[in-house]
Amino acid sequence: MNHIYLALKKHINNALNDAFPKASEDAKKQGYLFDPQLVSATKPEFGDFQINGALALAKSIKEPPRQIAEKIINQLNKNKDFQSLCLPPKIAGPGFINLTIQNHCLINEMVSQIKDDRLGVPIAGDDASLQSESIIVDFSSPNIAKEMHVGHLRSTIIGDSIARILNFRGHKVLRLNHVGDWGTQFGMLITHLKSVAPETLTKANVIDLGDLVDFYRQAKKRFDEDESFQSSSRQEVVKLQQGDDGSLKAWGLLCSQSRHEFQKIYDRLDIELCERGESFYNPFLKAVVDDLKELGLLVQDAGAQCVFLDGIVGKDGKPLPIIIQKSDGGYNYATTDLAAIRYRLKSSPTGGDGANRVIYVTDSGQANHFAAVFQVAQRAQWVPHGSRLEHVPFGLVQGEDGKKLKTRSGDTVRLKD
Ligand code: ARG
Repeated sequence: MNHIYLALKKHINNALNDAFPKASEDAKKQGYLFDPQLVSATKPEFGDFQINGALALAKSIKEPPRQIAEKIINQLNKNKDFQSLCLPPKIAGPGFINLTIQNHCLINEMVSQIKDDRLGVPIAGDDASLQSESIIVDFSSPNIAKEMHVGHLRSTIIGDSIARILNFRGHKVLRLNHVGDWGTQFGMLITHLKSVAPETLTKANVIDLGDLVDFYRQAKKRFDEDESFQSSSRQEVVKLQQGDDGSLKAWGLLCSQSRHEFQKIYDRLDIELCERGESFYNPFLKAVVDDLKELGLLVQDAGAQCVFLDGIVGKDGKPLPIIIQKSDGGYNYATTDLAAIRYRLKSSPTGGDGANRVIYVTDSGQANHFAAVFQVAQRAQWVPHGSRLEHVPFGLVQGEDGKKLKTRSGDTVRLKD
């Protein structure tokens, strides 16, 4: 049990041992053995502590319990030490008394406990009540060839805070930057750059991220409008996935441009991250499909390999599918996350992080994605007993109009601005 908790409990018990007998002279005369029964509050909304002893006292002297509770509170209110320690007590239910510690007392108590720089916080593992864990925090995770936007700022700051707190608590923390460095966007971008700026695909440092983002936008526009551009982009993705030298080189250059810009922001914010993008899990994607098939979880639906989710239904009330492999053979964002879960939770001589807890920090718009992926991983028994997968969602950053934050020209607001 934590030192601060015990010290506060002792102060309160002193006040209660004084207040109880004064609240009932009759009971005192009868030689009643007072026991305030001070315990931790059962719910945060009840405050910090709860006094249960008024009920037993009331029963023994046959007085209404709330009346006794009232008398005890009157006595407590005469006690200066108690008043500076707690906010005015509240009666709850049949005669419980709820107590809330004043913030400044909690802080004073923490400061008085400082023997080192740990503010009285024990280290996990040193304290039998908390085991030291191996935790991955997956945060920030922007996408290559796109600018980091204000939502990534939230993920970066919240994720960094979580990682710092868990690390301070004594856990082993791996901070992973799951950057979006793979997928169809590269086919589009490379195809477009081949025609408008081929030098960017062979030489380093010829474009900066701002240009890259413009090229990306142009490429997306062409992709949406032009069918022959679409098919060449798809072929380009296939080449990349097959490990074509030229395509891989171009891809590597585009990633390093983005990485360079992201790093400037991390340096300014003093954020440490280990980059391990989506592409890292490519070698493991096929096994995800094969193993799900073997487990009998895969269903072919309109040419795609899917898992139908339990308890997650669409508007028509039917279970929603999560697509693991598209009809063209390509893999999805979810497939990568499944491969990542297996890699992160397992530890074997051939690789794996051996984590027992993974925390994902993204906006709440991805809540369904994570619920689906976590469910599939559970059903496939890829989450060992005692391991946890958690999504920490945050709200959308809104503009003054209450809509998704955009600049006047309709762009998202860049993190660096
Ligand atoms: N790249 C994604 C985005 O910008 C975030 C990735 C979060 N992490 C994950 N394992 N899916 O929204």
